[in-house]
Amino acid sequence: MLDSRPLMQQQATKLAILISGHGSNMASLAATCRDEHWPAQVAVVIASRPDAPGIARARALGLPVETLASSAFASREAFDAALIERLDALEVGLVVLAGFMRILTDRFVQHFAGRLINIHPSLLPAFAGLDTHARALAAGVRLHGATVHLVTPELDHGPIIAQAVVPVLEGDDAATLAERVLRLEHTLLPRAVRWMVEGRVRLHQGRVLVDGIDDAQRLIVDNALSAEFGQRAAGAHVGTFADQARP
Ligand code: GRF
Repeated sequence: MLDSRPLMQQQATKLAILISGHGSNMASLAATCRDEHWPAQVAVVIASRPDAPGIARARALGLPVETLASSAFASREAFDAALIERLDALEVGLVVLAGFMRILTDRFVQHFAGRLINIHPSLLPAFAGLDTHARALAAGVRLHGATVHLVTPELDHGPIIAQAVVPVLEGDDAATLAERVLRLEHTLLPRAVRWMVEGRVRLHQGRVLVDGIDDAQRLIVDNALSAEFGQRAAGAHVGTFADQARP
C-alpha cells in the first residue's frame, strides 16, 4: 500500500508556462491542452526576456502572455518574489518551465513544491546545466534525449516523470542533435503535464509513480531507434553476460 498522495488533485488546473526563448514547447503544450480538452487551461505565458520569440508565438495562439524582464530586477530574489506574486494572483495550480533560462531561488522552488516541473534537454542525471547537446557529443554517448522532472532546489535533479531517448548519429553536430531531441520534447512535455493535471503523479520514496500509466509510456523512443531495436531483437542473437564472460 502506497503512503503517498497524488501531488495534484484532479480539478480544472490553471497552468503557467514560463519561457525565455522560442517557445516551441510552450506552443505544443498549449495546443495539446486545448485539442485534448484537458481539465486545465493556460492562464498565462510569462517570458523572462522581452525579445523572446516565444512571445509572438503565444500571442498567435491567443494565449495571455506577459513579460517579466529579469534584467529589470536587482537580484534573483527580487525577480522570483515578483514572479511568485504574479502567479499567486492568477491562482496558478501548475508551473511549467519550458525553456526558462533562469536558476530559481529555493524560496520559489519551495513555494511551488510538487507543482513545478521542468523540461531539460538531456537524459538526466547526465548533463544537467547548459550546452547539453555539445556536451553529449563531446562525451561520445550513443543515446541522448530529454527529461521532464519535478523541480527541486538542486538544479536539474528532481524526480523524473518521463524521458525521451534518441540515438546520436554519425555526423551529428549540436544543432542536428538538438533538433532530433526537440521533436520528441513536443510529445514528452504535454504527456507529462497531462498526467500532472489528471492527478496521476505521486511521489513514493523520492521517485515518481504515475497512476494507471505503465513504465513504457514514461519513455518515448525515437522512431529510428525503435526500428533498430526491433530489427535486432527479431534477427540477431543477443549475447548474455555469461556468453561474453566466457574466454
Ligand atoms: C528545449 O530544448 C528545452 O528542453 C530546454 O530549452 C529548449 C527550449 O526550446 N529547456 P523552446 O523554447 O521550447 O523552443
